[in-house]
Amino acid sequence: MPRFLEEQIEEVRQRSDIVDIIGSFVKLKRSGSSYVGLCPFHNEKSPSFSVSPARQMYKCFGCGAGGNVITFVMEYENYSFPEAVKYLAERTGVELTQRDLTEEQKKQASLRTTLIEINTKAARYYYAKLKSPQGKVGYDYLRERGLSDKTILHFGLGYAGQDGTEMYRYLRQQGYGDDILKETGLFKMDERGAYDKFWNRVMFPIMDISNHVIGFGGRVMGDAKPKYLNSPETKLFDKSRNLFGLNYARQGKRDYLILCEGYMDVIALHQAGFTGAVASLGTAFTEQQAGLIKRYAQEVLLTYDSDAAGKKAAMRAIPMLRGVGLNGKIVHMEPYKDPDEFIKALGPEVFEKRLSEAQNSFFFEVDELRSGYDLADPEQKTKYYHEVAQKLLVFQDKVQRDNYLEAVAAKYDIRREDLRELVIRYSSRMPEGYPESSRADTALKSSQKKEERGIGYSYRLLLSWLIEDPALFRPVSERIQPEDFIEEDFHTAAALLYQQLEEGELVPAKIINHFQDVESQKMAAQMFQTDFQAKMGPEEKEKALNELVIRIKEYSIDHRIRNLTDMGELQSLILEKKRWQAPEKLHISLKDG
Ligand code: GTP
Ligand code: MN
Repeated sequence: MPRFLEEQIEEVRQRSDIVDIIGSFVKLKRSGSSYVGLCPFHNEKSPSFSVSPARQMYKCFGCGAGGNVITFVMEYENYSFPEAVKYLAERTGVELTQRDLTEEQKKQASLRTTLIEINTKAARYYYAKLKSPQGKVGYDYLRERGLSDKTILHFGLGYAGQDGTEMYRYLRQQGYGDDILKETGLFKMDERGAYDKFWNRVMFPIMDISNHVIGFGGRVMGDAKPKYLNSPETKLFDKSRNLFGLNYARQGKRDYLILCEGYMDVIALHQAGFTGAVASLGTAFTEQQAGLIKRYAQEVLLTYDSDAAGKKAAMRAIPMLRGVGLNGKIVHMEPYKDPDEFIKALGPEVFEKRLSEAQNSFFFEVDELRSGYDLADPEQKTKYYHEVAQKLLVFQDKVQRDNYLEAVAAKYDIRREDLRELVIRYSSRMPEGYPESSRADTALKSSQKKEERGIGYSYRLLLSWLIEDPALFRPVSERIQPEDFIEEDFHTAAALLYQQLEEGELVPAKIINHFQDVESQKMAAQMFQTDFQAKMGPEEKEKALNELVIRIKEYSIDHRIRNLTDMGELQSLILEKKRWQAPEKLHISLKDG
């Protein structure tokens, strides 16, 4: 991933006037000192999206989106930070140079570039072959499976010829040596020579989200084994971090992505207009892939094969989706095997209907559980109740858990009171033989997370308060230093803001540049949008500010106590904490400010 110099990022930001850039995507109307329009990030009929030329920031009062011009491009185009900077640099004519890399980094970067180049050449070659007389067998196969010429071109499908060394000879002739060709995963090499790994197969190029060809899948055109052959992992191709079709599915805002099992499913769905379809790459779905999807959608519709293996795969994927906060739903394909066959048989309208009937993933899990028990047998029925109760513990939110409990009890005819009692029992202690002992850990971790989220809110309030009212900087900075912000992102933000305030040059939009992944960007952008104090009277405000300062300070001291290595300091930290617990002297008064 390219890294740019900080000054250049800032230059790109400054030259990209936010009203111009956003105005080229969204219709904006002047309103007082800012511009307003319909928010592109959620559906609305009256405008709550506002762009401030003075601050070079945007914000939506409806959905909470907000940030600087780079954030906007990231959110609107689903770009990563470097992609957004590059895009704006091109628009504004800023030349970007990459930050100095070490020799090793340069070597790796150029190796990757060469591998992409070779894969691209190979993909073009396979495509040309497919369209040539020798490729007719592959072309006819794909057409027979219902793919149009347009689809074949869109996905760059190809054909690997019958001759087992054709690609090798072609790439050698293009000037590549064995050393680099070995790294592509396209060849088998031994002392007798080099052979094409793929021959007499239709070829599916696998692209990363920037449309680089990083690997291939190849399918036999009959019943031979293996049915699919995939490129091995290479320096370029990490199967756990990419998804087939995501380069297209990521374009455009969507509520959901469709996760399927096979390349052909993705291609058939895109051809039928379901352009949010993606698939994992011949391997089981991973947590990294779940995280990747989270960048582009809130919900995942799972269309796994309707056989036992497909159900098992879905059962594995659901907790991973839940783990990253994605809502998963199961689309049933019966009586067909997969989306490709379904669409071919019943057409896109019926498929669309199936999507809308997708099953809540929790009910799917309970259904699966249930099928493993003979409910006519009281022993098994009891076990089943216990399993369901344990399963309900995945919901940490009490209201949500209760709602699921009610729904499950009604739907599966379990006595509600019994179920509730079991849930309470399981949530308060770990019973003997409890299978997933890690759950206690998970619950603990998540409660710690909640606490951090809580402190994060306080950090945000204080930072946005300082931005709203820079006069508070002096008294606040006498009490709270950037080191008191315990979380890394907040610490960075606070240090940058303090520096700007000390130098008397407040440019919040610049601070956002320092946060380069989507989550931190969002966090940074939110620092500027906490409109909490508008409704407060002066006394209320003073009280709130002081509580905030004390909360942050105490949290910071507690953190230091927890991480203490030198016990000699313990005494002074405890004393310091006491001082903050009787804070009259430390009180900030807003009247003399
Ligand atoms: P079609 O028969 O072409 O419609 O394929 P499918 O997608 O219906 O096939 P299937 O459900 O059998 O496989 C789903 C995905 O698993 C494929 O797209 C491949 O990525 C992978 N896969 C299938 N068979 C093999 C195999 O023999 N070896 C490997 N490595 N992967 C396979
Ligand atoms: Mn299939």
